[in-house]
Amino acid sequence: MRVLVTGGAGYIGSHTARVLADRGHDVLIYDSLARGHRAAALASVGSGRLIEGDLLDEDRLDQALLAHRTEAVIHFAAYALVGESVTQPGLYWRNNVGGTLSLLRCAKRQKIGHIVFSSTCAVYGEPSGSDLVESCQLAPVNPYGETKLASEWALAAHARAHGMGVTALRYFNAAGAHPDGSLGEDHDPESHLIPLALDAVAFPNRQLKIFGLDWPTPDGTCIRDYVHVMDLAEAHVLALSTSKPGTFRAINLGTGTGASVREVIDMVARVTGKPVPHAAAPRRPGDPCRLVAGAGLAGPELGWQPKHSSLETIVSTAWEWRKKHPHGYRA
Ligand SMILES: NC(=O)c1ccc[n+]([C@@H]2O[C@H](COP(=O)([O-])OP(=O)(O)OC[C@H]3O[C@@H](n4cnc5c(N)ncnc54)[C@H](O)[C@@H]3O)[C@@H](O)[C@H]2O)c1
Repeated sequence: MRVLVTGGAGYIGSHTARVLADRGHDVLIYDSLARGHRAAALASVGSGRLIEGDLLDEDRLDQALLAHRTEAVIHFAAYALVGESVTQPGLYWRNNVGGTLSLLRCAKRQKIGHIVFSSTCAVYGEPSGSDLVESCQLAPVNPYGETKLASEWALAAHARAHGMGVTALRYFNAAGAHPDGSLGEDHDPESHLIPLALDAVAFPNRQLKIFGLDWPTPDGTCIRDYVHVMDLAEAHVLALSTSKPGTFRAINLGTGTGASVREVIDMVARVTGKPVPHAAAPRRPGDPCRLVAGAGLAGPELGWQPKHSSLETIVSTAWEWRKKHPHGYRA
């Protein structure tokens, strides 16, 4: 298939673009590079496959879709920092929802058949503790989650009205790196636990903050469901191959197993052979205690089974990437 990947110079997009290209798809990346890396696009699909452009620039996007004769779009491009979305909600609504609406207008004009969208478990808000399935209440608690849910609604309406096949994949916590060490996670600022824990090991004078030691969990720290980025990439390939015209579906991508912050710290210490310097900090408002996927639609709808998502594989691949690229793509 001829696939355009928005946000393909970012973390999950670059891994997915590589997997698509490895399977013989004709991949073009469309990215503003506002938060991604030219080097990630290059390492993922080689030279000449990146169009530097903003989703809000519809002329440029139309042109890219037309010239590439795109059949399907995988739509990662968004801003994804919860704290920033609270202080700058306008930026998030404009970029994430406005960007998705731009893409939908262009997709309609260029008769794109299928779209796969990066959604998030943040659409569920602060659930009461039970494992999350797709039928759970949708109640985001920050502008980031709201913009993802609003984008899902816009995509669903367009699927119904214009016959596109749309899949929204609601990821839990993406983590890990490409097993060959050429692609990995490089956010600035970094807000994710595993790269922060590895940085605390790798750099002097860094310390990992643990937000709350008094949660009602067995060891008092928050629990999250970590999914290897290669498993996420595989789910996108499956979503494309099972997409049906005129239908919208939302599918959770989690492993069903939670790991606490303490368990992650212990695994990082084991894999790196070094202690993780850390300190307690107060709970952050809006941080749910536990976010773990239940048995949802990913198995029956996509035939997806995570294969790389043991905590040990996640931390080991992320550590290999960190050792080879201590300063990320900027090195
Ligand atoms: N990382 C996670 O754990 C996680 C979890 C759930 C959902 N998601 C979602 O997955 C997607 C990818 O996440 P990521 O961690 O790879 O993010 P990332 O920041 O690494 O990548 C996003 C990419 O989108 C590009 N971009 C942003 N706005 C754009 C615009 N208007 N036009 C063109 N390009 C634009 C950025 O330059 C960047 O390269 C995001 O939509 C995010 O909300 C991520």
